[in-house]
Amino acid sequence: MAHYQAMGSIPPKRHTQHRVPQEGRRPRQGDLYYEELMGEEGFSSDSSLLYHRYIPSTVSGAREWVVGDLATSPNQPLVPRHLKLHDLFAEQDIRTTDAVTGRRLVLGNGDVRILYVVPGQDSPWYRNAIGDECVYVERGSGRVETVFGSLEVGEGDYVVIPRATTHRWLPKRSRSNPLRLYVVEANSHIAPPKRYLSRYGQFLEHSPYCERDLRLPVGPLLAEDIGAEPEEPTNVYLKHRGTGPGGVAGTIHTLPFHPLDVVGWDGCLYPYVFNISDYEPITGRIHQPPPAHQVFEGWNFVICNFVPRKVDYHPLAIPVPYYHSNVDSDEVMFYVDGDYEARKGSGIGRGSISLHPGGHPHGPQPGAMEASLGVERFDELAVMVDTFRPLELGEAGRAADDGVYASSWSRGWGSADESDD
Ligand SMILES: [Fe+2]
Repeated sequence: MAHYQAMGSIPPKRHTQHRVPQEGRRPRQGDLYYEELMGEEGFSSDSSLLYHRYIPSTVSGAREWVVGDLATSPNQPLVPRHLKLHDLFAEQDIRTTDAVTGRRLVLGNGDVRILYVVPGQDSPWYRNAIGDECVYVERGSGRVETVFGSLEVGEGDYVVIPRATTHRWLPKRSRSNPLRLYVVEANSHIAPPKRYLSRYGQFLEHSPYCERDLRLPVGPLLAEDIGAEPEEPTNVYLKHRGTGPGGVAGTIHTLPFHPLDVVGWDGCLYPYVFNISDYEPITGRIHQPPPAHQVFEGWNFVICNFVPRKVDYHPLAIPVPYYHSNVDSDEVMFYVDGDYEARKGSGIGRGSISLHPGGHPHGPQPGAMEASLGVERFDELAVMVDTFRPLELGEAGRAADDGVYASSWSRGWGSADESDD
């Protein structure tokens, strides 16, 4: 994000002495702050400089964190699937679930993991050292506290958290409207599509959103600002590369102080929020392909969103999509709200995922094309992840599979289950 920001106390010149101005127990007045460069691609891409009260390398303990069940199995026999994510968390489970350790793996491959969680309690402090996270807030609200500052988050927010950002999730407790998070964990960075950006990183005029639509952390945020002691020993849960399923491993680091010790920072690397309602849809006389709906990209995957919009206005237009065979990708659509015209009659509703794998042409359910003729507006809201490597099913994906979606195009033709003989 080439959008420079500065918050809190920083020295006028980088890499120069920056000292504690006021009297205190530790650090004392006149002590140096500890400057940390948090940078991507070595020292060759976006970065920020953070000024810490304590040495950021300090660790007083380290032990293993077993990061849930991340095993996956192939989508075989190869079929499109309907996964019902709202079946994954019963009300009694939510109370004891947090947004970090409670994530359940729906789909994954070597580039990206899609997880789902409905948390009812605060998460531990957490740092994902494998890649950036893009967490879509399906429902509910809460607060994300980070070393860069705090972010108030709510329905429709994409919360983009750079790799290795120490943070935690605090859901607003609500029995009727709990926080529901659709989590995209990349093994890479997640950023706006390059084609939306100038060569220096500014959003261009044709981009469906721009800098003004991004919400930044409110900081600096220090331990005492959240009622904690600056020298309170604190565990930080670290997700990192390893030999576990999906190449993921976990470690819990104990710090002898609170992780919120950054008195100021500046740079172009920080967490931010973009709300889906600020996405300005691109429409046309005939059907616009999914790249017109793109919002972010990572290595070997893209994130698109389908928002309420006027639809195709050619007099003979067919507003629902044509059948398409994405020969190079698997397509995961997460249906958030509204009526999804192309999927009518398939059982898909709010909280559903459709997985349309490469090798299987997909498109509207029978009757949906005819029903869409003359329609002027779609009120659908959906988030799509397209991956360039096949996705495998995680334990939550298998648990949420309705088992019958593959037959939803074959009315009058027999079911897909009967076709293996
Ligand atoms: Fe599609």
